[in-house]
Amino acid sequence: MSEDKTQENENSPYDVPISGHDYDGIQELDNPLPGWWLYTFFGTMIFGFIYWVHYESGSGPSNEERLAASLALIQQQQAATAAAAPGFDEAAILAFMDSEEAMLRAAEQYNLRCAACHGLGGEGGIGSSFVDGQWTHGEDVLSILKVIQKGVLEKGMPAWEAMMGAQDMAEVAAYVKRFEK
Ligand code: HEC
Repeated sequence: MSEDKTQENENSPYDVPISGHDYDGIQELDNPLPGWWLYTFFGTMIFGFIYWVHYESGSGPSNEERLAASLALIQQQQAATAAAAPGFDEAAILAFMDSEEAMLRAAEQYNLRCAACHGLGGEGGIGSSFVDGQWTHGEDVLSILKVIQKGVLEKGMPAWEAMMGAQDMAEVAAYVKRFEK
């Protein structure tokens, strides 16, 4: 079969066996590459050339410039977030205790993130109890908030500041303190 084919195409510039590429009687033919393949290939070359000229000639930003631009954007966003997030002082946190809305939100966060270790009623377990009146890291709400933010990593208390918003943490601090009463 394959021999027939080669003979039929003897005059074609392509369909001729590549000499030396003969494996146990199976010959490799010099067929043209498919058009889509060639155009993709040339496309990558043209793209590569333009890309190289753009970045190597200095008209495109260098990696350092792009990093600096990204960092500037992040700093801008952080500054905006910090400006938008109100600071929580002791009075503000204590006020959350009397806000039904805040306590409902806090309960949701607490049950989701904290109850597994501290118990649904703050009775403790893997984590310390909030009902016994003993506070290892300070009994005031600001100390409690700080533990929630920074954690006690060596004792297995996670830091939450990367996972929870400032307001959520302040409300949960109030919720935790309320267990004591
Ligand atoms: C993986 C378990 C775990 C989870 C989840 C966890 N904690 Fe803790 N937490 C601990 C442990 C363990 C301690 C005790 C740390 C120590 O002994 O210093 C602790 C301590 C604390 C303390 C300090 C108590 C004291 O006596 O001063 C507070 C406040 C606290 N956790 C709040 C929270 C809040 C709020 C959440 C949820 C947002 C939370 N924890 C989630 C394990 C956990």
